[in-house]
Amino acid sequence: MKRIPFILLALTMFVCLSAKAQAQSSIPQVEALLEKMTIEEKIGQLNLLTPGGGVATGSVVSENVEAKIKAGNVGGLFGVAGPDKVRMAQKIAVEQTRLGIPLLIGSDVIHGYKTTFPLPLGLAATWDMELINRTAQVAAKEATADGINWNFSPMVDISRDPRWGRISEGAGEDPFLGSAIARAMVTGYQQDDLTRPNTMIATVKHFALYGAAEGGRDYNSVDMGRVKMFNDYLPPYKAAIDAGVASVMSSFNDIDGVPATGNKWLLTDLLRDKWGFKGFVVSDYTSLNEMIAHGLGNLQAVSAQALNAGLDMDMVGEGFLTTLKKSLDEGKVTEDEITQACRRILEAKYKLGLFEDPYRYNDETRPEKDILSKDNRALAREAARKSFVLLKNENNTLPLKKDAKIALVGPLADSQNNMLGTWSPTGDTKYAVPILEGFKNVAAGAKITYAKGANISNDKAFAEKINVFGPRIEIDERTPETMLKEALEAAKKADVVVAVAGEATEMTGEASSMTSISIPESQKMLIRALAKTGKPVVLVLMSGRPLTIEEEMGLPVSILQVWHPGVEAGNAIADVVFGNYNPSGKITASWPRNVGQIPVYHSMKNTGRPELKKEWEKFKSSYLDVDNSPLIPFGFGLSYTTFEYSDIKVDHSEITQDQPVNISVTVKNTGNYDGEEVVQLYLHDVVRSITPPKRTLKGFQKVMINKGERKTITLTLTPDDLKFYNGNLDFIAEPGVFEVYVGGNSDAQLKTQFTLK
Ligand code: NOJ
Repeated sequence: MKRIPFILLALTMFVCLSAKAQAQSSIPQVEALLEKMTIEEKIGQLNLLTPGGGVATGSVVSENVEAKIKAGNVGGLFGVAGPDKVRMAQKIAVEQTRLGIPLLIGSDVIHGYKTTFPLPLGLAATWDMELINRTAQVAAKEATADGINWNFSPMVDISRDPRWGRISEGAGEDPFLGSAIARAMVTGYQQDDLTRPNTMIATVKHFALYGAAEGGRDYNSVDMGRVKMFNDYLPPYKAAIDAGVASVMSSFNDIDGVPATGNKWLLTDLLRDKWGFKGFVVSDYTSLNEMIAHGLGNLQAVSAQALNAGLDMDMVGEGFLTTLKKSLDEGKVTEDEITQACRRILEAKYKLGLFEDPYRYNDETRPEKDILSKDNRALAREAARKSFVLLKNENNTLPLKKDAKIALVGPLADSQNNMLGTWSPTGDTKYAVPILEGFKNVAAGAKITYAKGANISNDKAFAEKINVFGPRIEIDERTPETMLKEALEAAKKADVVVAVAGEATEMTGEASSMTSISIPESQKMLIRALAKTGKPVVLVLMSGRPLTIEEEMGLPVSILQVWHPGVEAGNAIADVVFGNYNPSGKITASWPRNVGQIPVYHSMKNTGRPELKKEWEKFKSSYLDVDNSPLIPFGFGLSYTTFEYSDIKVDHSEITQDQPVNISVTVKNTGNYDGEEVVQLYLHDVVRSITPPKRTLKGFQKVMINKGERKTITLTLTPDDLKFYNGNLDFIAEPGVFEVYVGGNSDAQLKTQFTLK
């Protein structure tokens, strides 16, 4: 036998010992508890079930939940809420199991809990990080008052495909803005202390690349090169992790052929080894079991693969619960892997303070004080009005006079069921303010005639698909012609028409992908007819995604995009329509001219044959039928006032690699209203080793500028802002010229430059 040199032996022992030391928790109580646990009890902690109080987003629902908790087979629940109900569940876990380990109580608190804020794509359009942070704090306050300690938010999936219904749930197309929002939300939910009774664990999801599903079809495959992944899609997840997010949810899609839930490169090599994530990873709803349908083997095989890959908790599917012991006996997983996953779950419970007091979120007096309070609703109103984007103001029709004679028409004008938006299962439509009511609240002197005018859609089969969570599309008994006639008569008698049209809430969201994203034909007919009346028409447009509205943009109508605004919808819309608030929102995903143009986003590349001229030219990268530019560019949004940009300056024409650079610009309010402007900075790295985007967002600031006032705004580019991931995935900045554009949207023309030495 060969003798192993002593130094090698010592080194091996050191490596093994430090690996073991690394695996140990820094929390002694967690290690002490792990010592006492049987393998079955450890596996039980990896199991997340829902007793069915929330939304079942798959075909499987949990059964015999109470018995499973008693048997020590459950680590957490979701879909149960209310301090009393959560207390009951917690009591079973604490008093009727051998070790009395409390439960994680999860929930999808996506844009507010009971006080529903605008849907996330709308919140993003505020470009107001402090506001977004406050909405997350209020969401946490309300949810924890109702017993929740773990939130399945923020969803930070970049999406450049408005066919994908879940584009509504994220921040849109841009990683820089998406990262800022990820930070604002994580720190809003968790603040700096998870033991506080009004903070909860945040979950960054869906890791990863879920927003790039092929063809915009939900749950579809993703195929993407690493350079694009690292530069464009991964930054917001990383930002959430750097902000201290305590859990990560794996996505449904595969990446390079391996479903995220069982993808070791993703969940271990990248997430833990490269990014240093210390929290726990939960699967999405049965995404572990779905690896069977993906074609990776039976439940035992895929469960073992997921554990090996770094998944810690299995949502609903019970693959871990029912197969891991067998896999352990057969040597397909190790006890260390099971212990490590369990350790991470226990650490989360410890961080929440649940071992100290399992009932810390079960104060029965809190819901009354903390949920839907006046202050919370005021914030919802503020967030909503700041999220609206004025796309067009024909002849400055807006704002309206508060004593105007108004025809308020359209299927969404008095539709309480459609105000909250998708993924608001914890909200309740009965608290939502419809637009008709909001108009009456804000403009009591206005003479308003209401007419439905059209159905959201005339298609019964389509309506059935949309109405799965309750009536959203209610097809009228009257014929479309009768409804239209009524609306036109109302229009005839009015000074101005406000038409509220667009999508019902569930026309976007999970499993709501569409190949046509225009306003439904039933409503288009109404809008066309109204535009022909010669009366000023304001189209209040609701949707959870960019829509193709080339026709409507061409009509003589004003357009105010309001997304699905949440619980204060009607009041907030009235605030803007009647000029109590001057709109300041800017879109965060480009609006395409048509579906065939998708994807279209501001940071596209030049190609070797850029479309440079205004007129069409053969042999250029372009379409025969439409321009390359989107219908509405990223960052665009009008105000009741106007802003003029001038005097762009850079403080250093040459900088070194570790030096920040300041860009300043003067913005003057040249119109008749005080207003806020989102000043945006776009960077173009002119020459580099991999093809650069034409321009990409690298700075923004939302500022209030009174009419006639001039402000100098300074935006700082940090050394990291000049960096990108190159072909070796090194994060570097390369010397050369950088062009900087500053303005009110991604088409900004005011330009300066500097050189990186
Ligand atoms: C499926 C969704 O993809 C995810 O976002 C959500 O958190 C879970 N269902 C739980 O409801």
